[in-house]
Amino acid sequence: MEKRKLGNSGLEVSALGLGCMRMSFGDSPIGDHQDMVDFIRKSVERGVTFFDTAEVYGPFTNELLVGEALEPFKGDVIIATKFGFNPDAEGKPRPGDPNSRPERIKQVAEESLKRLRVDAIDLFYQHRPDPKVPIEDVAGTVKELIQEGKVKHFGLSESSADLIRRAHAVQPVAALQSEYSLWWRNIEAEILPTCEELGIGLVPYSPLGRGYLTGKIDETTTFDSSDIRSKNPRFTAEAIKANRKVIELLERISGEKRATPAQIALAWLLAQKPWIVPIPGSRKLERLDENLGAVSIELSSDDLLEINEAISKIAVVGDRY
Ligand SMILES: NC(=O)c1ccc[n+]([C@@H]2O[C@H](COP(=O)([O-])OP(=O)(O)OC[C@H]3O[C@@H](n4cnc5c(N)ncnc54)[C@H](OP(=O)(O)O)[C@@H]3O)[C@@H](O)[C@H]2O)c1
Repeated sequence: MEKRKLGNSGLEVSALGLGCMRMSFGDSPIGDHQDMVDFIRKSVERGVTFFDTAEVYGPFTNELLVGEALEPFKGDVIIATKFGFNPDAEGKPRPGDPNSRPERIKQVAEESLKRLRVDAIDLFYQHRPDPKVPIEDVAGTVKELIQEGKVKHFGLSESSADLIRRAHAVQPVAALQSEYSLWWRNIEAEILPTCEELGIGLVPYSPLGRGYLTGKIDETTTFDSSDIRSKNPRFTAEAIKANRKVIELLERISGEKRATPAQIALAWLLAQKPWIVPIPGSRKLERLDENLGAVSIELSSDDLLEINEAISKIAVVGDRY
């Protein structure tokens, strides 16, 4: 598969990565542990070299799964994980309760190294900004971990342009992870130009709009209570119906290109910049193969113009969270 470099960091990964979160967190349970281990290994056979997880996914179980699955491929694949949440009384990180204090970052690094079965974390993202800790202290702590050989590259997730700049001045940021897709383009105004100026790679998460942009979700689709979409304002029956115009656009373009809506949604992201590496999540081989097919779809400048003009006329209904 085509490889891409994440900005100026020199970190080279497959043009599409694999988002592993839903294998253990935020979706209805699927398959057993061994099925997911096999699935991750089959994605490596297909050329995927970039895997996304986080301490908080599970918590812990997703890192354990990814670490086990990728152990035979040590040195050939890049594993990205994330720190940044406060532990509860049982020591489990709580999403929505940020903690990026230096001692907490160091503790998560030590524990993630063990769960991932690696000698160094390839890419260590701050999962969410922590208003109580200056970003310079966060970047300085990751810098120390890099100097100690425990981390290779520093990343941020859902950061502002100001925080990105301040962090980058202390420790170069290899990649920013942010939600970015045809139905969520807010980062284009300020964040994307900042990444371009500083030479930071962009890793769009939820690049398939949490599944919506594949066209396979409609107002009759139901979500298990364990599925984060059951509480997401964009996944109410009304919003799903109202946003159908986005799917009609994707279906029109995919018809012209003999592709699928999911492939056009990913090809559109890949066409934005050569340093963009989306991480679609999937747990089914036929979907993985469909998604990887996006890498060979060429969208011309006329195609991109047509998509951009059409999408700018659609007012997407529902908050993204
Ligand atoms: N930094 C952050 O704060 C943050 C936040 C959210 C996510 N992430 C990362 O980004 C990754 C991807 O995000 P995401 O899972 O939220 O959204 P996504 O990649 O946009 O969509 C994943 C959903 O689409 C379905 N899907 C995938 N390919 C499909 C296809 N070809 N046809 C039909 N359905 C398809 C998946 O179903 P199946 O799984 O059943 O195949 C899953 O329900 C996560 O795994 C995680 O690593 C990061």
